[in-house]
Amino acid sequence: MSHYHITSKEQYKQAYQESVENPEEFWSSIAENFQWNKKWDTVLNFDFSKPEINWFQGAKLNITENCIDRHLFERGNKTALLFEPNNPSEGAEHITYQQLHDRVCKMANVLKNQGIKKGDRVCLYLPMIPELAISVLACARIGAIHTVVFAGFSASALAARILDCDCTLVITSDGAFRGSKTIDLKGIVDKALKDCPDVKTILVAKRIYAEITLTEGRDYWLQPLLDKAETICKPEVMDAEDPLFILYTSGSTGKPKGMVHTTAGYMVYSAFTFKNVFQYEEEDVYWCTADIGWITGHSYIVYGPLANGATSVMFEGVPSHPDYGRFWDIVEKHKVNQFYTAPTAIRALAKQGAKWPKSYDLSSLKVLGTVGEPINEEAWHWYDEQIGKGNCPIVDTWWQTENGGILITSLPGITRQIPTYATLPMPGIQPCLMDEKGEEITTTEASGKLCIKFPWPSIARTIWGNHDRYRDTYFSAFKNKYFTGDGALRNAEGLYRITGRVDDVIIVSGHNLGTAPIEDAIDEHPNVSESAIVGFPHDIKGNALYGFVTLVDGEGSEKLKKEINNLISEKIGPIAKLDKIQFTEGLPKTRSGKIMRRILRKIASNETDSLGDISTLLNPEVVENIIKERLS
Ligand code: WTA
Repeated sequence: MSHYHITSKEQYKQAYQESVENPEEFWSSIAENFQWNKKWDTVLNFDFSKPEINWFQGAKLNITENCIDRHLFERGNKTALLFEPNNPSEGAEHITYQQLHDRVCKMANVLKNQGIKKGDRVCLYLPMIPELAISVLACARIGAIHTVVFAGFSASALAARILDCDCTLVITSDGAFRGSKTIDLKGIVDKALKDCPDVKTILVAKRIYAEITLTEGRDYWLQPLLDKAETICKPEVMDAEDPLFILYTSGSTGKPKGMVHTTAGYMVYSAFTFKNVFQYEEEDVYWCTADIGWITGHSYIVYGPLANGATSVMFEGVPSHPDYGRFWDIVEKHKVNQFYTAPTAIRALAKQGAKWPKSYDLSSLKVLGTVGEPINEEAWHWYDEQIGKGNCPIVDTWWQTENGGILITSLPGITRQIPTYATLPMPGIQPCLMDEKGEEITTTEASGKLCIKFPWPSIARTIWGNHDRYRDTYFSAFKNKYFTGDGALRNAEGLYRITGRVDDVIIVSGHNLGTAPIEDAIDEHPNVSESAIVGFPHDIKGNALYGFVTLVDGEGSEKLKKEINNLISEKIGPIAKLDKIQFTEGLPKTRSGKIMRRILRKIASNETDSLGDISTLLNPEVVENIIKERLS
């Protein structure tokens, strides 16, 4: 029996049990719900020691046939994407499945006409406008590998990503609206491309009608090309394990990692989890507020919802524009049924008071979701009471870019929910906790490092161009297990609560930031000798960044702080700017010369009573000074 749609606790238990006892049978029954040109020869082959993971090997398909074509007969006139622009008076745009089909085919033909073929990498650097979702699908239509770069990244961050996977074509826009501001995206692309000689073509969508310069022979306005293109484009037949996309995520060290997701397993898992985690019903309107530049947007704005024939809202703007009622205005206007956002947005809106949600009719809401970082209890209750009116289950969904889809969550109205607990694994997911010695903890009530023992269909298959790094990062800490980098605790009932990163990744407003790239950016300042970044608790952002900086000579100043933040903005993007910068004489180090971030973290968080033994440091005397001069 297929467990594609789980509607009771009993069914969840049964599905989970089957998925563990007989994973191949379980996942093949789920995969039967999709359209295949040819079915698989084997469901799963894997070896975590290499690591090598293959799902549905031998199968042939195109994901866009599953997300678009197969809905045309029954849902041709149903809204697929509901675009809500930055400026509410511009009015929403309803794109039906038929229109989406035609627009994706046109875009796919434009790409083909530019010489893009199966396997080529295409970079999308766009605001949250329909062209972004359409280009994602157009790439998938012709088998090109998309790599979406969040449009808040700087020129050098964009260039690094384009170079890493050798994109030959970039789609961007003449600019982006963001609240009351505009952003010069094309200017950023131009700057990035100075370092990217392999990019042959830039296609430019018109959005803000800015005066921009087009480089002849390289840059083209998109619309005239679309106007000329055919509305039919035969889908490229893909192997189950052909790459679908690359998405970059920050590591604790080194350059960003291009996570490679492949076609069949990603489709099956993102669709299956969408259906069950949000309990989507045919007439529902579903809204995920993420940006398609992140994995949440890939899996739960585009692929998962469309594979289920859903109506998915795409919002261009920000929660504070034109005022703090914007989210709730959209919920009321489009009668949104499922609403999926991040704790940082909830905290920011809660701070503005309950008067905003109270002014709107939110009675359409059935399910609320959260993702991106641990949600604190206060924010959880505000969400529950002010938005859900005590009537909507909240799904606290834990997962990662590397995972492709939600791994641990409650199912709304079906399994138990507890504030701040992600709770239970989805069918197919086998979490475990590891102790300091590297052994699996067998008692139910425990805390440790969170690993997953068995593959699921949408686990990333590699890091683009660096399989060794993939193995070292995820499969070497614990033998035959995928290591998440997160810590977790499990209560007596076996429910999981994610406690946060155990590595040097800091989550600021839901964005993963590695400390090393930020430190590298700061260290480029001619007057900086060394720096260390740590996170400290922040009311709205969850964490904010605190930088300890030592100088080559002279004293720190406001001007220097500004220069440091400008460097970070330029190298990484404004999201990585430091909230606090403290200039110090030295940084606490171990005898082997390693910076003791643990101590700096405590100082930044004002927990100096529990510093532990610092006498073994190379330079214990610097700690006292750092504490004295700590910025409050
Ligand atoms: C954190 C986002 C607690 C976690 C889909 C993870 C969470 C990292 C939750 C991945 C949650 C995500 N509760 N922590 N519900 N969701 N995280 O790659 O530390 O942007 O490892 O993927 O975010 O972030 P990423």
